[in-house]
Amino acid sequence: MAKVAVIPGDGVGKEVTREALKALRAVLDGSGFDLDLVEWPHGADRYLETGEAITDAEFDDLRQNYQAILLGALGDARVPGNEHARQILLGMRFRLDLFVNFRPVRLFHERLTPLRDKGPDDVQMVIFRENTEGVYVGMGGNFKQGTPDEVAVQEDVNTRKGVERIIRAAFEYARANGLTRVTMSDKANAMEFAGGLWRRVFKIVAAEYADIESEALYVDMLAMDMVRRPERYQVIVTGNLFGDILSDLGAQLAGGLGLSPSGNIHPGRIGLFEPVHGSAPDLAGKDLANPFAAVLTAGLMLEHLGRPAEAVRMENAVRACIEAGETTADLGGTLGTAAAGDAIVRRLQASA
Ligand code: NAD
Ligand code: IPM
Ligand code: MN
Repeated sequence: MAKVAVIPGDGVGKEVTREALKALRAVLDGSGFDLDLVEWPHGADRYLETGEAITDAEFDDLRQNYQAILLGALGDARVPGNEHARQILLGMRFRLDLFVNFRPVRLFHERLTPLRDKGPDDVQMVIFRENTEGVYVGMGGNFKQGTPDEVAVQEDVNTRKGVERIIRAAFEYARANGLTRVTMSDKANAMEFAGGLWRRVFKIVAAEYADIESEALYVDMLAMDMVRRPERYQVIVTGNLFGDILSDLGAQLAGGLGLSPSGNIHPGRIGLFEPVHGSAPDLAGKDLANPFAAVLTAGLMLEHLGRPAEAVRMENAVRACIEAGETTADLGGTLGTAAAGDAIVRRLQASA
């Protein structure tokens, strides 16, 4: 039995995780596979109460005893600089060395895309976002702070090993899934050192995958072209910050953040699964958040845990609800968060 740390977190994270757990229980019911779901109370409330975000001992516990983490969202305006989110979310990505941030973009129904004349076959790509380096390493500082001469420096750190492993992961995924093109994206025309490394390594690794077409595009051009010709893109590999931005763009092409799941992965190790969206303070506590991203995220987790059939059933349940118009308001429906979760559970029970 796989052990899973469930961290609902803050804001709508709590609401959507509740629905994802309902869906998980429904899909596993009678499957012969079970999960030991352990709820972790980490988040803003606990941080504000205790001053503690997550401890070294808890990291050891995760490494030694858990196979996955299912997270809702972290972010709360009461915590200056969202320090707790940095320590927990970025902490887990970095300290567990989850170097692949896997962010699929999949359009379930043409009415959900803001793009004219595009359908499910046109919007179907995966973003491989580097997850342990880049500007997220927190190197730099504010010099002469508070003076008119203040300078803020935020270093963009890219290692040869870090760049190579994420690029290789993207090509491996393409090969394993019969995909024919990998697009690397950087800003080599302005960021010559980082871009130079990414381009050199991309070329070397691409040569090992001669059966797969490869291309390097500047990230501004790619952002434009994902809107213009999404059908061109299959696998996109990029750095941490560009991947963050492109994945919100991609999410909206496919119906919005309410439908966008992600996995933070290091093959063979514990994985962290979370929706791409945040704590959505504008929706929190109102039963308005779309739980489908969290449900699809739980599906990605099941795949990671070796249960691909149940992952497909989760996805099919989401698709069926969308087709029937059983959705929250962001997708044009009238259901609240809990009712949308119930709709998923009914579909799962019907498909059992
Ligand atoms: P957000 O993703 O929380 O919200 C952006 C927009 O998308 C809002 O209009 C929101 O209403 C909408 N939205 C988000 N989730 C939705 C859902 N499930 N259903 C329907 N609509 C949804 O981004 P933000 O407003 O920039 O950030 C809010 C907080 O969340 C910040 O503290 C931020 O740092 C944090 N954050 C956390 C994560 C994470 O935990 N992985 C990710 C992104 C942002
Ligand atoms: C995401 C979020 C995080 C990120 C924030 C909350 C630090 O936007 O998971 O996409 O930038 O990685
Ligand atoms: Mn983001």
